[in-house]
Amino acid sequence: MIITIDGPAGAGKSTLAKKLAKELNFIFINSGALYRALAYYLIENNLNLESLISNLPNIKIEIKGNFEKIYLNGKDITESLYTPEVSKKASLVAQNENIRNFVNDIIRKFSKDKNVIIEGRDTGSVIFPNADIKFYLDASVEVRAQRRYKDLKNKGIEIDFETLKKEIEKRDFEDKNRKIAPLIIPKDAIYIDTSFLSFEEVYKKVKEIIKNKMS
Ligand code: DC
Repeated sequence: MIITIDGPAGAGKSTLAKKLAKELNFIFINSGALYRALAYYLIENNLNLESLISNLPNIKIEIKGNFEKIYLNGKDITESLYTPEVSKKASLVAQNENIRNFVNDIIRKFSKDKNVIIEGRDTGSVIFPNADIKFYLDASVEVRAQRRYKDLKNKGIEIDFETLKKEIEKRDFEDKNRKIAPLIIPKDAIYIDTSFLSFEEVYKKVKEIIKNKMS
């Protein structure tokens, strides 16, 4: 069984998908983390997009546990994936078709014959168009920026709130307007606006929908 959760940055997809995967004993896939890993590689090796693409055959991404650790060519890079610099570059590398195919191959291989909850921007529209249940999680920019601000603070990363909000708006625009696999509400997806809901309320709602569909 495949469950997809798409939506913009900071809508709460990751926390939700992780908790559901634990509860249902499903595999959790954070597709954005793979774009972030490639962005990290680009930054670390001082590459432009073209050289990143030609380097793809030399890149080995390994996922340990339920997406708890990400290894890039043997190095644990999990803690380095959520800096503002990586976020910016991830949005750029995600616009490229070769990169997207590379990421989608990893995901499809990893998911083969498994029960999966995957979150991202094109998981229900492109990666798994025949998914069993699709969700689209949304929230206002203000609310999403507040959530990201808190997350980053907890991770020890200090950033100006207005700058963060502008960056989220910019990334929304890029994700929704890119030519390949733009962020859309997938056909048949259940739309949930989480702006005025607590995490527990969203979790309860989504879990109920899944349980109903499963029975
Ligand atoms: O969800 P995130 O913020 O970790 O995603 C990082 C970047 O990757 C973001 O700019 C959108 C992009 N992305 C994508 O294009 N397709 C996905 N399925 C997941 C993420």
